[in-house]
Amino acid sequence: MKTVTSLSELRAERAQLPGPVGFIPTMGYLHAGHISLVQQARNECASVVVSIFINPTQFGPNEDLANYPRDLPHDLVLLEEAGVDLVWMPTPEIMYPPGFQTWISVEHLTQGLEGGVRPGHFRGVTTVVTKLFHAVQPQKAYFGQKDAQQAAVIQRMVKDLDFPIEIMICPTRREPDGLAMSSRNSYLNPAERQAAPVLFRALSAAKGAYEAGERSAEALRQIVGAVLHTEPLAKLQYVSCADLDTLEEQESVQGKVLLSLAVYLGRTRLIDNIILG
Ligand code: PAJ
Repeated sequence: MKTVTSLSELRAERAQLPGPVGFIPTMGYLHAGHISLVQQARNECASVVVSIFINPTQFGPNEDLANYPRDLPHDLVLLEEAGVDLVWMPTPEIMYPPGFQTWISVEHLTQGLEGGVRPGHFRGVTTVVTKLFHAVQPQKAYFGQKDAQQAAVIQRMVKDLDFPIEIMICPTRREPDGLAMSSRNSYLNPAERQAAPVLFRALSAAKGAYEAGERSAEALRQIVGAVLHTEPLAKLQYVSCADLDTLEEQESVQGKVLLSLAVYLGRTRLIDNIILG
């Protein structure tokens, strides 16, 4: 496994790799969720490239950029074990040199859900992913269903801007108690960690109601809210029942919908989702 920092080193190493090249962009502090994307790429591609870059432009002013967890040595061990060929770890100065002022924005899909409560977040994501795609030039890129809106926004961007890249969306990896794996889970204190499976319990309760025939989106949102309410440490930020393609809030469930939520446990903000239909 090669590791590189500068754009020129990245380009030189990339040029040596046999195709198809699979690419997994990450912000590091890797866990089994990230590694499942690497494994899928390993199965489908001749070469696998991973980037580790904590992208400052996707963090809001009151978000956790400075405290975002890092453990580069451990990340590199996991990536080596998973059979990655090339790891790119650019610096903020490489990605955003002085005078930087060009942005990529996906307009409509970014208005609600995460975009609604994290203004500017997706502009940062789409801009950095565009730059990573241009540098790495993969044939396939792997994203997690865990960040469902991010995956939808990247798919839209790739279509709209004619990137010759196939976007692969991989299932959410969970802890045995249902908590979706996330680098941010490391912020949870023991009591919060014990409370955290309530997110998946709430989504699963709504899924149970859907499977029993409930088709009112509001009723499903209320079930999620009611289950969350049973956990005193959890503060619901939003719950959404939206069309899977447009991400528009639904009144009644027809076709595939994304049931998603954002919850505070203390100061830690967690998101999760499931697809119904
Ligand atoms: P990061 O949060 O590090 O996640 C990197 C990739 O791993 C994303 O596609 C995310 O959806 C996926 N992932 C995270 N947790 C997962 C889980 N439990 N199961 C499956 N996949 C999971 O998402 C980002 O970084 C950044 O926004 C990035 C795309 C790198 C742009 O900066």
